[in-house]
This record gives sequence, structure tokens and C-alpha cells, in this order.
Amino acid sequence: TTVDADTGDYALGGHPDFLAKEIAEQPDAVRRALAGRLDTRFATTRLGGLELDPRDLRGVRRVLFLGCGSAYYAGEIGAGLVEELARIPAAAEPAGEFRYRNPVVDPDCLYVAVSQSGETADTLASVQELRRKGGRVIGAVNVIGSAIARECGNGIFLHSGPEVSVASTKAVTNMAVSFAMLAVLLGRVRDLSVADGRRLVEGLQSLPGHIAEILERDGEIAEIAKRHAGASSMFFVGRTRCRPVAREGAQKLKEISYIHAEAYPASELKHGPLALVTPEMPSVVLVPDDELLAKNVGTIEQIRARGGPVVAVTDAELPDGLADDVLRVPRTEPELAPILLAVPLQLFARHLAVALGRDVDKPRNLAKSVTVE
Ligand code: AGP
Repeated sequence: TTVDADTGDYALGGHPDFLAKEIAEQPDAVRRALAGRLDTRFATTRLGGLELDPRDLRGVRRVLFLGCGSAYYAGEIGAGLVEELARIPAAAEPAGEFRYRNPVVDPDCLYVAVSQSGETADTLASVQELRRKGGRVIGAVNVIGSAIARECGNGIFLHSGPEVSVASTKAVTNMAVSFAMLAVLLGRVRDLSVADGRRLVEGLQSLPGHIAEILERDGEIAEIAKRHAGASSMFFVGRTRCRPVAREGAQKLKEISYIHAEAYPASELKHGPLALVTPEMPSVVLVPDDELLAKNVGTIEQIRARGGPVVAVTDAELPDGLADDVLRVPRTEPELAPILLAVPLQLFARHLAVALGRDVDKPRNLAKSVTVE
């Protein structure tokens, strides 16, 4: 075959679109994010770009992640990790809300500005507002030299490599990976044990291989996605650690396939959304192999009892026939499972969008980075 550089074939490297390419690049992207940052000797991580010594790290009383869209959802994953591993109160907020609500700026809070491009207007304005009020803000940014990276000064570069497709995939994965490293770092200067630190450092090391295994299931996921191409709306259901994964899965689907999608914590279904469950409304249910496994199995049963088709996304062994379709990922440490469970949702959204003939790299009405309000 010949390669025509003018049509961008070189840049695509044999992939049908940039979205496919960037999804496929994730094992390498995660390897880059981890390079030189795992400390196996002390079972912790090294994030030199933060320029925070152990005393500074111990002085952090709260963490607030700020970002827009998928960067905000990645921040929610980060907040969960920080609370769980470091036992510091943590939350995420859309940067566009934070900048306008005259926020109380807490000198003991570590603010994390999350952005692939480093140019998103609301995130940049939040950083400027924080700096004006004397808040301590670090960046979690992909593009070196970008406005947010410069304004923050310190932070964690994501090292995902250039992202072209409007839908963010490898950058979001590296955001979550970076926040897992931040959570381990904050945890290990507190009460996270050596054994847990080691378990998580080893878990992080295995992520690239695990992601590669998920990518091998691309064909299988394509078949499942095609079966749902007629749906006009879908639910994404996930609780606790997987709640932000459900939000991100719904976001990816809406963005590139134009199918309406809504994310709910499983616990909320009975408080309203269950009324919408019919054979025409598929639910994608996240079922991590953790302490809430039985509850998530119960959620699937409740949805199916109302005739709703269920796609389970899981690293657990589920009873045969429990769900209509299963997207399986390798088992990892439960705290890291959200990082893996998000990957098949990217492939699912892409295949649905392709089946519907969408331009997956340039969805209508959207820009890669929102530099104006
Ligand atoms: C992600 O798929 C979206 N295109 C969008 O939500 C994006 O994450 C958001 O605009 C933030 O962009 P940033 O990471 O460059 O700041």
C-alpha cells in the first residue's frame, strides 16, 4: 500500500481515525506517565514537578480538583483516590462554576487544575482567581508551555503525547493515573502502609499491560456496540469509585455518537430513573470486583426485571446470563479498577459512533479546546 502524507495517513499510522489511534496508544502513554515516578524502595511515588516536600505534603488538609468536561470527571476519580488512600477530604468541581461563585479559598487546600490542552478558559480563570487569593494550585496538564501550565508553575505533566481527536481518551486515562500517583504520595506521608503502597505501585506498573489486553477485545466490543446502534438513549450506572467512570462513559457516547446518555449512581435508580427503563433503554452497568459486587449484581437484576437490556463492564466473574452483554477487563487493585473500566467505554462509544456514520474525530458543535466562554 502507498501512504499519502497529504491526507494525514502518516500521522494516523494505519489507524482509521485519530480517536482509534489515541485509544490504541494508551499503554505507551501510561508507561510515559509512570516513567521515573514509581519508587519501589519506599513503596511510594515521586512527583518532582510538584515541588512539595514531605512537610508541605503533610500540611495539605483538603484537595479540590478543577477542570471542565472529561477533565472534571477525571478530577472526580482523583478525589475518590485521594480520600481513599490519603484519608484527606477531596472533591472535584467544574472550573466554570468555581470561578464565578466567589469560592472560599482555603490556604490548607491543594487545588489541582486539570486540563489536557492547558488552554481551557474556565480552568485558566480558576487558576488566576486562586493565585489572586493566595491559593496553592498545581497543574495536571498535558501540553507543556500551555497557559495553565505556565500560570501554575508547578504540577504533574500528563505525558500522554499529542491528542488530536476532540474526544479525550489517552489524556483522561493519564489524568487518572497521575491522580493515583498523587494519592499514593499523599497517603504514604500519612497512614497508607508500606504493604498497601507496594500493592498500589505494583498495580500501577501493571496498568499498561492490562490496557493492552482490553484493546485486544476491540472486535468483540465492536459487535456488542453494533447491537445497540438503534438506541436513542442509554443509562450509565456506577457507584462510588465507578460513579465518575459512568459519567465519563456517558460523556464519550454523547459527544461522538450523539446518542443521549445519562449517568446515575446505582443507588439513585429507584428514586426516579428506573421509570425510564424499558426494552428500548439499554443500561451500561459498571461492576467492579469490590465490596459492592453483590449490590451491583442486584442493580442489574432490577434493571433486567423491568425489561432493560444490560451491558455489564466488569473485572469480576459474573453469573452466566446475568447481563445481556459483558465487557470484561483484567482484574487489578480495586482502587485502580476505575482506570481500566473506563477503557472499554471509549471503544464502545467509538464503535457506536462509527456504526452510525459519525465523524468521530470532529463531532459537530465541539472544539478540541474551549478557549473562549
Ligand atoms: C472530552 O472528551 C471533551 N472533548 C471535553 O469535555 C474536554 O475534556 C474539556 O473541554 C476539557 O478540555 P481540556 O482537558 O483541554 O481542558
